[in-house]
Amino acid sequence: MQVLYHDVIIVGAGLAGLRAAVEVAGKHDAAVLSKLHPLRSHSGAAQGGISAALGNADKDSPEWHAYDTVKGSDYLADQYAVQVMCNDAPRAIIELEHLGVPFSRFDDGRIAQRPFGGHTRNYGEAPVRRTCYAADRTGHVCLHTLYEQSLRKGVRFYDEFQVLDLCRSEDAVNGVVAVELKTGRLVLFHARAVLLATGGYGKAWRTTSNAFANTGDGLGIALNNGIPLEDMEFVQFHPTGLYQLGILITEAARGEGGVLRNGLGERFMERYAPSIKDLAPRDIVSRSIYSEIMEGRGAGPMKDHVLLDLTALSREKIAGKLPEIESFSKIYLGVDPAVKPIPVQPTCHYAMGGIPTDVNGRVIMNDDGAEVYGFWAAGEVACVSVHGANRLGSNSLLDLIVFGRRAGKDINRFLDRECLSPLPLATGSADKVRAMISRLRESGDGEPLARVRNDLQSIMMDNVSVFRDEEGLSGAVEQIAALQKRAEAIRVLDRSSTFNTELLEAIELQHMVNYSLAVAVAARERKETRGAHSRDDYPERDDANWLKHSLCYLEEGGRIRYGQKSVDLSLAETKAEFVPKERKY
Ligand code: SIN
Repeated sequence: MQVLYHDVIIVGAGLAGLRAAVEVAGKHDAAVLSKLHPLRSHSGAAQGGISAALGNADKDSPEWHAYDTVKGSDYLADQYAVQVMCNDAPRAIIELEHLGVPFSRFDDGRIAQRPFGGHTRNYGEAPVRRTCYAADRTGHVCLHTLYEQSLRKGVRFYDEFQVLDLCRSEDAVNGVVAVELKTGRLVLFHARAVLLATGGYGKAWRTTSNAFANTGDGLGIALNNGIPLEDMEFVQFHPTGLYQLGILITEAARGEGGVLRNGLGERFMERYAPSIKDLAPRDIVSRSIYSEIMEGRGAGPMKDHVLLDLTALSREKIAGKLPEIESFSKIYLGVDPAVKPIPVQPTCHYAMGGIPTDVNGRVIMNDDGAEVYGFWAAGEVACVSVHGANRLGSNSLLDLIVFGRRAGKDINRFLDRECLSPLPLATGSADKVRAMISRLRESGDGEPLARVRNDLQSIMMDNVSVFRDEEGLSGAVEQIAALQKRAEAIRVLDRSSTFNTELLEAIELQHMVNYSLAVAVAARERKETRGAHSRDDYPERDDANWLKHSLCYLEEGGRIRYGQKSVDLSLAETKAEFVPKERKY
């Protein structure tokens, strides 16, 4: 088998991976592996913006940003990490601008900023314009800019290489096993440092804003290597996905003045969040939409969605600030948003949980903070945790940029001071992968993978979505455990080596069932309502028992072992604003 060496292997070419690559390049030899062309990475789908207390539009401060982030997280975010992110945000935006990101501007030339859900001034007093943007293509322009910068700095790209496993020597990580999609050949990538930046996992739900590629591969690989996943029960449903399709309609539409209406034409968010209304955090807005639908006030003949009304905005404003969603709405639903409201419904959007890391992206093995030598994670695959139980809109791009850069810096330090030569690869580094591929190719009588994947998406959508209860979650745990066996035995009919997408989807499905089981187990265990985790049978937040992060480990035989670790409340020790309290908007 071919063995290739680079000092640093970065898996995933979204914003977190590319920001880390830009940091490492020029100092060490960095390679980025991606199962897609980098410019197809899902970061490019982020529309509305990136938050930073620049204060270009309204008076603002990083401390208010941190307060909103902690409150938005329903107090589960680690407060020191939040402070790190919010303090670094203004610098990160200026840096992006200098790298070439074409941000939208105010007339006086400064970077424009717009309101987004949950972002307020003066500790919740009123919405603040904090989100920097490039029309509604912010992720797209950031991705292009960082890709160009990576190429300029000599980063080596391996496009369409899908990573299947980590290489381990004793407890350290020293490479990855990948398959080249074009040829089907396995390649060992040997390295001194490995960073996973593989993004999210929304594809386990039927309705999602996530791209086809978002199958949580990094999470599955971590679980297979004995590394736990943190806070997996917290899965964000974005309030405004296009009806029946789930395609994202940015929160910026509400930031620019759009309002949500039920089937009776009522502006229902006035009842659920009287002070900031349609700009409440996403968990609250998604729950409110479902409550309207369940109480019979949905829109359309089926009364199964609500309406996003932009008709009060001028056609020029929609075309100038929201061109992408104008075209999505016209193309997919035949609705001109300047004339008619857009039919929308909540859509699975973002994973608050992931691989536990410290603020430098180092992967943490357990609740005593032990690091995995040579291993980093950043972006949506990681859990720093700055989003806790619910992420604020536009804090995601910020997380990618801030913690991608920090991981890159930490890797540079590690290569200069801690790990001066690569640890030799263990013999048989690719054995597990080879055995899995043979099993999938040889299982003659299993089911087609699409049937197993559809069943998984139905279970997650019906029982592990916005509203949850013990019965649904326990049923989901049992059914997903059965799906693990069915997924292992699926039938792969395609025998070719060239772009064998059936085999690769079969491998992705193994990851999907494993992390979905972690989501369902963690949701069943958490007997309270917090952020995006809303239990009908435990409707209150319970800080006395549940102000804790969850940890899920995959054990032999596919079972999940559940653990916990404490939440960092360091800001609350000095500032009353950060002490957990009732979350009202
Ligand atoms: C949006 O524009 O609403 C999505 C961006 C995000 O999830 O922060």
